[in-house]
Amino acid sequence: MVIIPREETRLAQTEPAPDQRLYIHNLVKRDPLANLADDVRKGLAAQPKRFLPKYFYDELGSQLFEAICLLPEYYLTRAENEIFQRYAGEIVAAVDDRITLVEMGSGSASKTRLIIEAILQRQSQLVFMPVDISRTAIESSSRILLQSYPKLTIDAYAADYFTGLAELGKKPRKRTLALFLGSNISNFDIGEALRFLRALRSVLNKGDALLLGADLKKDPAILEAAYNDALGVTSAFNLNVLARINRELGGTFDLHKFKHVAFYNESMGRIEIYIESLFTQTVRIEKLDLEVEFAAGELIHTENSYKYDLAGIARLAEETGFACSRTWLDSQERFSSNLLLAS
Ligand code: AVI
Repeated sequence: MVIIPREETRLAQTEPAPDQRLYIHNLVKRDPLANLADDVRKGLAAQPKRFLPKYFYDELGSQLFEAICLLPEYYLTRAENEIFQRYAGEIVAAVDDRITLVEMGSGSASKTRLIIEAILQRQSQLVFMPVDISRTAIESSSRILLQSYPKLTIDAYAADYFTGLAELGKKPRKRTLALFLGSNISNFDIGEALRFLRALRSVLNKGDALLLGADLKKDPAILEAAYNDALGVTSAFNLNVLARINRELGGTFDLHKFKHVAFYNESMGRIEIYIESLFTQTVRIEKLDLEVEFAAGELIHTENSYKYDLAGIARLAEETGFACSRTWLDSQERFSSNLLLAS
């Protein structure tokens, strides 16, 4: 006869193993290489040339972004973390009722832990529904969270934002708190931000909430330093797009012949990021059967990062069916966490 110690019996009865609390829906449909090939062809034919920021995030690019978040100049991650360390309890308390937690673009979900912990102090069980384009990121972060929190169940969607939202819309949910953190809203232009927030609003009910992290307008020297770090990690993150085209599409970009450029465009209220060709040169991309000419000094646009003020966030909320009910700032007032209520 096997005697099971009492503690193990209790655990086995009340807390299903992490694997039994994880559901992953894989909704990434198209072959990612085909998307990259089409978008690179279009971007290199455009005037000015451009690449889409989503192509930063292959495996190496995602690791480089994690490194950016640790840089002394890149204050955004630390500031948002500080806000959650101090105010996660208040943030969660501002949403009435038992919460289902949704996160758009969850990635490594490291800051989410503080919100999860605050919710689990209020309720005994929590369903977390992360949506992220990277199946590997969502799977590994979910497994780590499930190990830490026995009362957590994860219903995860590997999908682009709009596909993920369409799927979430089909699921009955309790009072929802949706997270869109890290100033990910910054990489949308205003039209895209409106479209995204309206799509998100359409799957929420009145009284549900969105916690929106948004970086704030400030001294351009501080902003420019955050995107031109002394170690050169942001430069590597940017130029990795060329390395990715070399790896995946058989490109012949010589990375020494290009450089990272980032500056604050005050009238547009955004950091603009480019790759500059240092010479007149021709690059071949084998899998596209394409030769592309670059002039010396020619810029390829890779990303914008919009900076907000509180009035701009309130306007964005109002135009998309939300009302900005509360804002929390870090101690240096560089970053904002905004609770938008679905109105
Ligand atoms: C993901 N996103 C909010 C970052 C930003 O600050 O706009 C991306 C980034 N690009 C260069 N550094 C960080």
